[in-house]
Amino acid sequence: MISPEIRIPRFDAYERVMHWMSALSFVYAALTGLAIWSPKLYWLAALSGGGFVIRGTHPWAGVIFTAVMGWMFARWAKTMGLDADDRVWLGKMEKYATHKHDELPESGRFNAGQKMLFWSQVLTALGLLGSGVVLWFPESAPRTLRLAAIALHPLAAIGSIAGIIVHVYMGVAAVPQSMRAMLRGYVVPEWARFHHAKWYREWRDANTLQKP
Ligand code: HEM
Repeated sequence: MISPEIRIPRFDAYERVMHWMSALSFVYAALTGLAIWSPKLYWLAALSGGGFVIRGTHPWAGVIFTAVMGWMFARWAKTMGLDADDRVWLGKMEKYATHKHDELPESGRFNAGQKMLFWSQVLTALGLLGSGVVLWFPESAPRTLRLAAIALHPLAAIGSIAGIIVHVYMGVAAVPQSMRAMLRGYVVPEWARFHHAKWYREWRDANTLQKP
């Protein structure tokens, strides 16, 4: 029997710093971007530095966010590849939403939903970076590219903000104890076995020969 007191390392210090840098730069870029985008949301500028300041800081927050996403990609892309179980998981996703976890294939370190969030954020970050650079230096781009950037930048932003709203809900409210993983770096065996059974078994087999 594995003691419930045991702490299983989930995110090391580098991963936690990386993740919270992405969260901070994302929230700042999102608030300033929304304030610049719509007069109805201009009041958000007051929360993030004021109208004049945010016109200068927004692109830099975007640069920091995409740089951290590059770091995240280098660190996690290999782990985020979908395997056969993940594809079955995605086909039965409604079971996850309705708490019928035992009808889903077991997950590794990340479940298929988390992997999809990762890839969707990589994709939208590329869209935001490409279109953002064009909007930052509009005089250097031809008209069609400028028009494409005007359409793509808010679309990619809406996609990534929607994904992060779901992600924050999952992390803060729907999956108790996952904030502890991202704040303090560890989880307890029961949590690991319930949410990430394959990953839990790998940890158990590497750390003890006993079966629970
Ligand atoms: C803004 C507030 C945010 C909160 C409260 C938050 C919370 C969390 C938590 C609790 C975890 C751990 C989940 C686990 O142990 O399985 C996590 C993981 C992760 N976060 Fe965040 N996060 C935030 C923003 C972001 C942003 C902006 C990104 C990137 C665009 C991001 C990308 C990820 C990824 C890729 C993971 C690993 C897979 C996953 O759990 O989805 N997070 N986050």
